[in-house]
Formats: sequence, C-alpha cells, structure tokens
Amino acid sequence: MRTAVYPGSFDPLTNGHLDIIRRGTRLFDRVLVAVLENEGKSPLFTVAERMEIIARCTSELPAVEIHSFTGLLVDFMRRHDAAVVVRGIRAVSDYEYELQMALMNRELSSDVETIFMIPAVEYTYVSSRLVKEVFRLGGDVARLVPPIVLESLKRRIPVTASV
Ligand code: PNS
Repeated sequence: MRTAVYPGSFDPLTNGHLDIIRRGTRLFDRVLVAVLENEGKSPLFTVAERMEIIARCTSELPAVEIHSFTGLLVDFMRRHDAAVVVRGIRAVSDYEYELQMALMNRELSSDVETIFMIPAVEYTYVSSRLVKEVFRLGGDVARLVPPIVLESLKRRIPVTASV
C-alpha cells in the first residue's frame, strides 16, 4: 500500500490544492490530506469546516482520507505508517520554504521523503491567502476555488464594496 500525506493549512482549499490531490491519487493508493490545527494563524475556517469542505470536494476520490493533526508532521506520519510527504510547488519563490521543511522533516525522521508536485499551470499563482484577499475586496475567484468553497466564502466574508 503506497501512502502519501498531503499536509497543509487549506484555509480554504483552492483548485490548486485539489489539482495536487488528484495528481497524488494517480501515484499513491492512499492520499491522507492532513489539516494542521494551528489557531495561531487566525484561520478563516475552523479545522472541522476545512475538513468538511475537503471531504465534500474529494468525495469522488476513494483514495483520499481527510485528517487533522497537531504537533509534528513526522509524528502524524509515523502514526499512519506513511513515509511520503506531497507538497505542491508553484513558483521558484515556494522552493526555499519547501526545501527547509523537507530537510527539517528528513532531520526529524530519516524515513520521510518529500516529493514536490507542480499544479496545472492555470493555478500556479493561486494561494488561499490571495483568494481570501481578492474575495474580500469584491474580486471574482470563481475559477480559482471549488464551488463549495465559493459558497462558504460568501457565507463567511462580508465583501467590502469599493468607492
Ligand atoms: O499550507 P501550509 O501552511 O504551507 O502548510 C504548512 C505545514 C502544515 C505543512 C507545516 O507548517 C507543518 O508541517 N507543520 C507541522 C509542524 C512541523 O512538523 N514542523 C516541522 C517541520 S517544518
């Protein structure tokens, strides 16, 4: 059984994340999407909400399981008998942060390998942070997030009208 963990904040899930999850299911028998419980980041959606959104958006992918975790990623991986971390890399600017995390995870657990996947080119500039900012300011993000996320954003964020 080839198992990969796709960890992240997913606040909220974007089409870029979904693209990586889909690509991951072509390489692995199980893809565990692991939502970090980190209230320090003042998330827009609770962990339970983020997990429910991801579950609804991946319901047609039987290989996908949704989890949350606190503490070290490598400990979550050990508990789930997983040795591969999947992370999406968009632009070169992602690389430094991702390299540091991958090497730190290797330092903490030499069994862990990180593989980087490239999303479809139309999502290479999409991030949860920018989606929230653009939506809040009245911009159209319908192409960048799943419809379920768009509905959740509409319920959660009051749009600021420009003057
Ligand atoms: O979507 P994000 O916020 O870029 O994801 C970051 C995440 C969750 C992958 C990273 O912060 C993480 O793994 N946190 C768990 C704590 C940990 O294991 N830290 C040491 C390795 S960097």
